[in-house]
Amino acid sequence: MDIAIDLKDIVLDALEQINIVFFITDTEGKILFVNKAFEELTGYRKEEVLGKNPNILKSGEQDEKFYKEMWDTISKGDIWSGKIINKKKDGSLYIEKLNIFPIKKDGKIKYYLAHREDISKLIEMEEKSFESQKLEAIGTMAGQLAHDFNNLLTVVIGSMEMIGDELKKDSVVYQLTQEILKSSKENAQIIKQLLIFSRKQSMEFKKVNLNEIIKEMDLLIKTQISSQIKLFIELSDDLKDVCADVNMIKQVIMNITANARDAINGTGEIKIKTYNFSSDNINLYPYLKGNFSVIEIADSGKGIPKEVLPHIFEPFYTTKPKGKGTGLGLSSAYGIIQQHKGKILAENSSKGGAIFKIFLPQIA
Ligand SMILES: Nc1ncnc2c1ncn2[C@@H]1O[C@H](COP(=O)(O)OP(=O)(O)O)[C@@H](O)[C@H]1O
Ligand SMILES: [Mg+2]
Repeated sequence: MDIAIDLKDIVLDALEQINIVFFITDTEGKILFVNKAFEELTGYRKEEVLGKNPNILKSGEQDEKFYKEMWDTISKGDIWSGKIINKKKDGSLYIEKLNIFPIKKDGKIKYYLAHREDISKLIEMEEKSFESQKLEAIGTMAGQLAHDFNNLLTVVIGSMEMIGDELKKDSVVYQLTQEILKSSKENAQIIKQLLIFSRKQSMEFKKVNLNEIIKEMDLLIKTQISSQIKLFIELSDDLKDVCADVNMIKQVIMNITANARDAINGTGEIKIKTYNFSSDNINLYPYLKGNFSVIEIADSGKGIPKEVLPHIFEPFYTTKPKGKGTGLGLSSAYGIIQQHKGKILAENSSKGGAIFKIFLPQIA
């Protein structure tokens, strides 16, 4: 019996039947083999993909640089591993960790074997442990501090107003009380943002459609941004209602559009979209479970640098010059959305600008 032939059959059967997604390409990227798990995940039948290039899975979520680095790595003979967002046949997106192994024969690369690792659990854990716990800890601390400071400022402002009332309006001392009042009120504003971040601000929830909120804000946003920036609004016709504090959500949108304005140097555009999102038909965000109404705000600015991205929701984190940024816009937005039991995410688009996505749970 020829053992080598048997082994070949066994390996082929194993690759075909194992519940791990595999595919093999030649050095040009032409697909030579996909297994059943691949068909099940992507929705493509074997005969539809054999001979094609894996870029049929391209979602547009990664830029050309990303693919170039991938190719540079594997064509050198190294293993490439990375998170990638791909597109199924039906157009829905999925996230995966892909490992691509160059397979050599006589020292030369002949094939590439790509194998998918399911990382939805991992992402869920990362999400729970890292960013949100850090913000949770800062929130507790900031909340206590802000609470005490707020009480103090209330006393200062109240007393100053009473003292001012007793003084002659043209006296130097009266001028001083006004200065103290002005700066105390500015500080109270900062403290208020911190209180919002720490979810210590009371909210008035009511049933509302996010489309209505955005329609009401059209003029407000146009006033806030310069006339060189075009505003596009695209509202879903069948957006489901959510339970929200209207003024707080307006605050979140204003904070994000203000940042978008700052990120756009000169001319550009801001696009606001709404849509329904269900965790059933997409596993792009494994930590989102259920049905959400989403507000998406995308800008054509410079995007958020990789090293900045993990910090943007921290209070007082700003990359703007002194006097321009307080670093409280996104942290208060974060607090507000948390208090709505929603989720706010920041990403960069493949075109370069930033995208903020706000997920609010729909009323069942
Ligand atoms: N649309 C955006 N494009 C690029 N960077 C952004 C964008 N939005 C926020 N950022 C980054 O996040 C930081 C924090 O934002 P924020 O909390 O609003 O504070 P501030 O605007 O006062 O700096 C900003 O300083 C900026 O570096
Ligand atoms: Mg800001």
